Amino acid sequence: MSEPGREAIVRPEAFVARHSSRLSAGAEVLDVACGGGRHSMLLARSGCRVLALDRSPDRVASLAGAAVAEGLSIAAVEADVERMSLLPARFDAIVNTLFLHRPLFGEYQRALRPGGLLFFGTFTTDHADVLGQDRPGRRFLLEPGELRAAFPDLVVEHYEEAILDGRAMATLVARRPAGMTE
Ligand SMILES: C[S@@+](CC[C@H](N)C(=O)[O-])C[C@H]1O[C@@H](n2cnc3c(N)ncnc32)[C@H](O)[C@@H]1O
Repeated sequence: MSEPGREAIVRPEAFVARHSSRLSAGAEVLDVACGGGRHSMLLARSGCRVLALDRSPDRVASLAGAAVAEGLSIAAVEADVERMSLLPARFDAIVNTLFLHRPLFGEYQRALRPGGLLFFGTFTTDHADVLGQDRPGRRFLLEPGELRAAFPDLVVEHYEEAILDGRAMATLVARRPAGMTE
């Protein structure tokens, strides 16, 4: 794991690692477009039960294998998340990193249990405009301030827009208020 690029993909995002200790053992977590499953693995290792979705069969199979090898509670499922609808108040936490499909914003708010946490982080327009990167494409980049305003029913507990390690990202941790009903 000495290769810097590989390290960046495998290592969990700092904002997820920092705030994930707030989840109790047994918490039910959804990892959306999980990729290699770096956050699924982090959270399952701390006792969470994770549903990890990705449309890539290879990534799902690889994550399922890694979970079995470590005896972790991860259900890795091949799914197109752009077509999913989530049950209300279903998860204690939802993780969405390096993936952007704006119609899911409302789904995430509803699918969190009262007190549940959303971890969201992906690239901003600075990735193209300041860093000159042409991937991901423009429609997959967050506008300045967009992520902070995207979840009006949630309480924002962490928010940052920054350029770090060659990536321009917005990161957010937000909580569904305990008293909120459907
Ligand atoms: C850049 S990777 C990020 C993976 C992971 N969230 C992370 O931060 O390490 C984007 C992932 O989104 C998945 N993906 C893209 N569109 C998807 C869709 N419609 N449904 C499910 N997964 C999708 C890809 O297969 C890929 O694994």
